[in-house]
Amino acid sequence: AGHPLRRRADGMSQLPSAARRIAHHLNAVVRGDSLASGESDPAVVPSPLFSQRALVSSLDQYREMYRRSIEDPAGFWSEIATQFYWKETWDPEVYAENIDVRKGAVSIEWFKGAKTNICYNAVDRNVEGRDGGKVALYWEGNEPGLDGRLTYSELLDRVCQLANYLKHVGVGKGDAVVIYLPMLMELPIAMLACARIGAVHSVVFAGFSAESLTQRIADCRPKVVLTCNAVQRGSKTIFLKDIVDTALGECAKDGVHVGLCLTYENLSAMKRDDTKWQEGRDVWWQDVVPNFPTKCEVEWVDAEDPLFLLYTSGSTGKPKGVLHTTGGYMVYTATTFKYAFDYKPTDIYWCTADCGWITGHSYITYGPLLNGATVVVYEGAPNYPDPGRSWDIVDKYKVTIFYTAPTLIRSLMRDGDDYVTRYSRKSLRVLGSVGEPINPSAWRWFFNVVGDSRCPISDTWWQTETGGIMITPLPGAWPQKPGSATFPFFGVQPVIVDEKGNELEGECSGYLCIKKSWPGAFRTLYGDHERYETTYFKPFAGYYFSGDGCRRDKDGYHWLTGRVDDVINVSGHRIGTAEVESALVSHAQCAEAAVVGVEHEVKGQGIYAFVTLVEGVPYSEELRKSLILTVRNQIGAFAAPDKIHWAPGLPKTRSGKIMRRILRKIASRQLNELGDTSTLSDPTVVDQLIALSDH
Ligand code: PRX
Repeated sequence: AGHPLRRRADGMSQLPSAARRIAHHLNAVVRGDSLASGESDPAVVPSPLFSQRALVSSLDQYREMYRRSIEDPAGFWSEIATQFYWKETWDPEVYAENIDVRKGAVSIEWFKGAKTNICYNAVDRNVEGRDGGKVALYWEGNEPGLDGRLTYSELLDRVCQLANYLKHVGVGKGDAVVIYLPMLMELPIAMLACARIGAVHSVVFAGFSAESLTQRIADCRPKVVLTCNAVQRGSKTIFLKDIVDTALGECAKDGVHVGLCLTYENLSAMKRDDTKWQEGRDVWWQDVVPNFPTKCEVEWVDAEDPLFLLYTSGSTGKPKGVLHTTGGYMVYTATTFKYAFDYKPTDIYWCTADCGWITGHSYITYGPLLNGATVVVYEGAPNYPDPGRSWDIVDKYKVTIFYTAPTLIRSLMRDGDDYVTRYSRKSLRVLGSVGEPINPSAWRWFFNVVGDSRCPISDTWWQTETGGIMITPLPGAWPQKPGSATFPFFGVQPVIVDEKGNELEGECSGYLCIKKSWPGAFRTLYGDHERYETTYFKPFAGYYFSGDGCRRDKDGYHWLTGRVDDVINVSGHRIGTAEVESALVSHAQCAEAAVVGVEHEVKGQGIYAFVTLVEGVPYSEELRKSLILTVRNQIGAFAAPDKIHWAPGLPKTRSGKIMRRILRKIASRQLNELGDTSTLSDPTVVDQLIALSDH
């Protein structure tokens, strides 16, 4: 049948839409339209002392380990896996055979047949085999001075109490639990408690609106929702329980009834008496959970039993429920954490992400705790009460590994070096970046100013779907190039393909795919395995397609160039253009909308929306605000458009398809690069849009 993209050239109309969308973006990839393209920078060589002490000290040592991981994945990963506790082991002959994505249905399985429990490995094992008195979590509140800590033994007690409570209210193996909590210690505790009893957690980032929460609850139908009454973020109070009330009310209208809302009283933000309450459904966490025993039997689950669902954005309006299972995810997050950050037992680790995103799942909760690490959990905004807060926290806890996002780096960079240099930061050893390409100037500032030119930066490329880090420097092992994620992690085989799916060799640029499987890979999209196959495995037969563009330089370094599908990356948050469009068109006065990403100095990408109003409705500032509010209400504040561009009409092909390529050029003011507009059904639309650019 040939590759779908090849068929496009034949003019066939029955193309998988994913392939069609991808083809439109090839230009962007080849030209490297991205903040990160600083190859002229000299490479940064690690200090010999750092390299000597590193887990992987040289490129040669890496190459040897990498070679083994590719030639003998079963041997490589099972050797690592034996460091964990397995109630029953896997059959070494068959455990990872089902990973060839070339043949028919995609069914990925690792350590099949083995039984384990990730909570047991992340918590109990550290209490029993190591030092239960070691601090597992430091908690830093939004307000300076408000803090707490839990040792591994205390963490185990808390997890068991909640697990016992969940069992008591009827939550069992395979049941879904939605967690809508801010960065309190109760959030990782809740994740671990679910894992302990084999329940499947679905954490919803507490910045999502009631409508997004409704959608997620309706999709996975949890028995219980865990939340808190309110949270203080920066100088704002967010009333989470009100949002949950609305969501549960909406779900009930659709026949989805959640019988229990366990609510943590977050006293620093709100007293219980001020909280709206629904008797019979709502229960205060503090009234029940502490009464349960601090011992709770572990539910041993199959390596392939689901661990969690996490919704993420794709090219269509409906978020995708990415499903991760237990055994492979456990081994993969633990191993990537250890090597990508050169983890040592004396490290104090802080990741500024939120557990509501995959970074928080893999590198706040699971990866670090599986290594017995001490983790800082921060409730607030990294620039509150001033832009020095992050370094204040680093000094307070003597943080050695600091993992953050380029958007924060760029924003702190704008606030000036003074806020950084007034703190010591001498504890820092390794820095990390994730979520979007890091532009070379932000990289250099992070390296020189924050890390005093001493700390290697792990620019880690990965995705919700990949479960863990895929391409990253190993600190100390090889020279870094600012803006490049460098080389693949053990067991990962990245390939760059052209639009026909041909693997490109040497220096090249194209679509980033992964050959074969790795233990942390997601296994399906919840309830829609067909969409899983179509979206990720069909565009380029035989590979997992990441949705990202990538360039490989003459030295084999990888340079990620951004998404090539209709997904935009705003401050490291993934947002589908279709989601924002569907929110906009739900506004009574909006007839049509088209959303594209534009380069943004701090956020990486900003959201730029072209909006056509209903006939006769005039443009107004008030209407602009109301359109933005609609998006905030339907998705969340982080998805609010930065710009509304009034559009009398949208550029469409004769078959009615919106030409985003042209809209992207107009949005980024590259007006002399509009390209061929002759295929538009009405080419004058473009002139009208340009004329309205500055309104
Ligand atoms: O475009 C890539 C970008 O973030 C996308 C994945 O988003 P999400 O699933 O929300 O996970 C974010 C945290 C892992 C990717 O498709 N991305 C992530 N890390 C990097 C990156 N782009 C360039 N460099 C990175 N280090």
